[in-house]
Amino acid sequence: MIDLRSDTVTQPTPEMRAAIAVAVVGDEQKREDPTVLELEERGAGLLGQEEAIFLPTATMANQIALRIQTEPGDELLAEENSHVLIAEVGGPAFHSGLVTRGLPARAGRFTVDQVRAAVRERTSPHWPRTRIVSVENTHNSSGGRVWPLDEIQRLSDVCRVLDLALHLDGARLMNAAVATGVSPAEIGRNFDTVTLCLSKGLGCPLGALLAGSHELMAKARRNKHLFGGAMRQAGIVAAAGVYALEHHVDRLADDHARARRLAEGLHEAGLPVDLEQVETNFVQLDLAQLDLDRAEAVRRLAEEGVGLSATVHARVLRAVTHLGITDDDIERAVEAIPRALGVRAGVAA
Ligand SMILES: Cc1ncc(COP(=O)(O)O)c(C=O)c1O
Repeated sequence: MIDLRSDTVTQPTPEMRAAIAVAVVGDEQKREDPTVLELEERGAGLLGQEEAIFLPTATMANQIALRIQTEPGDELLAEENSHVLIAEVGGPAFHSGLVTRGLPARAGRFTVDQVRAAVRERTSPHWPRTRIVSVENTHNSSGGRVWPLDEIQRLSDVCRVLDLALHLDGARLMNAAVATGVSPAEIGRNFDTVTLCLSKGLGCPLGALLAGSHELMAKARRNKHLFGGAMRQAGIVAAAGVYALEHHVDRLADDHARARRLAEGLHEAGLPVDLEQVETNFVQLDLAQLDLDRAEAVRRLAEEGVGLSATVHARVLRAVTHLGITDDDIERAVEAIPRALGVRAGVAA
């Protein structure tokens, strides 16, 4: 199967497994695991922050970031389909007692004017205190879209003036950095806290980093324990992270080129793919223009040996490229997807 469902389906490469096999480990909870310490050290510099902590998942990183910068009853602003709002099981309410406010956006990006308009005055004893803004870059549900650096900088300036904390869900930050040619540190330093996921395009079996100031990371380490995320010989998996930061970042450009080739091939075959939306490793397919529902489309694709997955949008499917996908897979997918969906060049059946 050409598995384009997500960049989370990657297998560790033989070289990554070799790095895991020779990892020097210790008791991570006691901060005695040298490989975890090395990954955290590198992560801080990479993300433009004072300190980084190693966590099992990006969900945990996001939720800890929200919890350490808010009080119960505070309000979180985020794009209405962002992962923290719709895919973390109500975590902001459950873990931090937050009121959430989803902002409508284009390509996953809301504006500083929307933030200014949404922030509640702190003069009233009745209103929740708008306290934190979360940005997702790249933005998953809009199809891996990228925030330009100047928009991030403007938002960061406005948040500082309005006394709002600013979190980056940069699960796919390295895709954004590679796509724009802006370093992750230059992007990351505009935020109070930054999440980076190691198990998506970077190809690790698991793991994430949360970065911020020493002060915030001291709180984050306590919460890591509280959430049950303080581990023991975690260098076994941190070794994969160190390996990925060295060997799997620049190659994300190949995933992006393959997504573009796939999008162009499908578009030429007459499928409803908006080429402008393809900025990183996602290709979105709008089934609304074909007379097909989602489940039927996924079933037919699977019969042709291609895995695509559903999105938050009822008629939109996505294909996601990653390090398990070759140029040859893409050429085969360009043939198989239109065949599965009953589309011939230029004609939607
Ligand atoms: C934008 C974004 N943030 C956070 C996460 C959470 O990652 P995990 O499932 O590894 O906790 C995901 C996972 O898909 C994601 O796409």
